[in-house]
Amino acid sequence: MHYDRAFFDAGIDRAHTRCLKWDDPSHCKPGDLAMWVADWDFRCADPIVEALKARADHPCYGYPCADANDQAAFCGYWQRRHQLTVLPEQTVMLPCVVTGLRQAVLTFTEPGESVLIMTPLYAPFSDAVHRSGRKILDVPLLKQPDARYDIDFDGVEKALQNGVRIILFCNPHNPVSRAWRKEELARLVELANAHHAMIVSDEIHADFVYQPLRFVSMLSVPGAEKCTLMLTAASKTFNIPGLQQATAVSFNGELLKKLADHMEMQGITSGNVFALPATQAAYTLCDDWLDTMLSYLDESRQLLSDRLRELLPKAVLTPVEATALCWIDLRAYDPDSQSLDKKLRSAQLVLNSGTIFGQENGNGYMRLNFACPHAALAEGIRRMAQALK
Ligand SMILES: Cc1ncc(COP(=O)(O)O)c(C=O)c1O
Repeated sequence: MHYDRAFFDAGIDRAHTRCLKWDDPSHCKPGDLAMWVADWDFRCADPIVEALKARADHPCYGYPCADANDQAAFCGYWQRRHQLTVLPEQTVMLPCVVTGLRQAVLTFTEPGESVLIMTPLYAPFSDAVHRSGRKILDVPLLKQPDARYDIDFDGVEKALQNGVRIILFCNPHNPVSRAWRKEELARLVELANAHHAMIVSDEIHADFVYQPLRFVSMLSVPGAEKCTLMLTAASKTFNIPGLQQATAVSFNGELLKKLADHMEMQGITSGNVFALPATQAAYTLCDDWLDTMLSYLDESRQLLSDRLRELLPKAVLTPVEATALCWIDLRAYDPDSQSLDKKLRSAQLVLNSGTIFGQENGNGYMRLNFACPHAALAEGIRRMAQALK
């Protein structure tokens, strides 16, 4: 199969596939345009579909086992795409990245302890903290005049001085679509090591960094080998989150063993009969699909900012350095996310309300997922303008 712009322009009709994004009536009604959850409206790459069909064709679906090729596929991918050398023994398989966030909190902290996060932030981070009886210590990102967000290093240092031992970090960042620079990651690692803290770095969006920027893994930073647990998956990159497979990586064997032991104790297993072959195919056979999707999304970024400027000139788009998600400040139209959401829904557009990412610093903002055909993206912005004008 040859992937080109037309392949991504065609998108895919997902109605009636038990798909959360389009079929769940609590989120989306008939006629709505769904641009919320981070799940892409594109066909998967053929090798993934073929791997799934081949496995389905064998009519026995007993307990699976991962093999050396699964780990080799993961390590080969990270070496090839991100120049990060990971050995198979430095990895542990997980059902999904959110499981990794939750298990990390449970494994490395005690009830009542504080966990540092930086909002606005993908909501399952704060969920992982408060649902496990830990306390959130929010060191909000600092919004700059150009609408980019930076880390509040003084705030982080203060929190670490006050005894916080764990930082849950999102690299690249959802929802503010930030690709963190090596110097920023190095500063965080330096602070964590100086205060004997650890960093859990969610790198599920690693593949979505737009040129001329490049993705930098926390694990590539000197000193990170001691303090970092990295979580990632093929699921966002290759649009297979329904298959449920992810990987935790650490160069600190003790951290990784603690996490693995804790998950085993909780009975958490992963690598199901379909996820294993599909993930292996994704990591080894789909670079052409990915490269084409990334150039398509790069064009989407341009379309997004052009159309917003034209139709909603008072909207402030945070520069999209990474991810297929964007963070739009709509306070000039309405300062309240709940009321924004209501207006957008009345124009049959479903986005994520900013307050789920940050109660205060997300109010008046919306997150839009632009991994869809360009025509759908243009229609989404048209509906947004219709709702807010
Ligand atoms: C930063 C981040 N982490 C984790 C996830 C979810 O990953 P998983 O489906 O592997 O739990 C998402 C999904 O949008 C995400 O944006």
